[in-house]
Amino acid sequence: VVLVQDELKKIAAYKAVEMVKSGMVIGLGTGSTAKHAVDRIGELLRQGKLEDIIGIPTSTKTHEQALSLGIPLSDLDSHPVLDIAIDGADEVDPELNLVKGRGGSLLREKMVEGVCKKFVVIVDESKLVKYIGASGLAMPVEIVPFCWKFTAQRLQEFFEYAGCVAKLRTFASSNGMENCVLPFVTDNGNYLVDLYFKGDIGDLKAASDAILRLAGVVEHGMFLDMATTVVVAGELGVTIKNK
Ligand code: A5P
Repeated sequence: VVLVQDELKKIAAYKAVEMVKSGMVIGLGTGSTAKHAVDRIGELLRQGKLEDIIGIPTSTKTHEQALSLGIPLSDLDSHPVLDIAIDGADEVDPELNLVKGRGGSLLREKMVEGVCKKFVVIVDESKLVKYIGASGLAMPVEIVPFCWKFTAQRLQEFFEYAGCVAKLRTFASSNGMENCVLPFVTDNGNYLVDLYFKGDIGDLKAASDAILRLAGVVEHGMFLDMATTVVVAGELGVTIKNK
């Protein structure tokens, strides 16, 4: 099953890379689906089928991947407007709103993907949801480490109406002698709180504004009204949805 899903991710990624032309400034996404797109861009560059492109990575991991492929890189300071960005998503609703960040990146993604002329999202069909939060899986919020429990508690309280449980993202670590559980730290030195909903979040824009108003929050994983195109790969083929 894992192999099949990864194959679908690759199909969506390759389809999206067909929209990349020589001379473009490209936002390079993060995650297992975006990885295929970055690999493909590197391959086309090597083959001389793409020229003169500049990549803007959305995480340190993608930065390293792109460097290893010889993709010329820059940043938003030098290129504040991008031609296209290609990235995966954890959830896509019928209006093309997204949840992102389950892989640990979201802030740089939102900064880069918020300033591109075309934002192409690549997913396998398992990522399509009726409404955001319906999957019961994490909706990540990046917060500053300072008094993280306080911030997590405020988030949980705000979404009490939707049966929200807020959990700090952690990972198990071992130094050979003992095992411990440590907070996951983002590329930006922050923590992630994962929100799990039992009910409907309701008005997404209002929820987004409320989260961002909370001091201690840096950014959240709802990408509302940002995707211009979603490429969905499924068992029956590829579907392209445009905003
Ligand atoms: C990175 O944290 C994310 O925003 C990814 O784009 C998202 O989690 C999708 O990842 P996969 O392509 O690995 O499912």
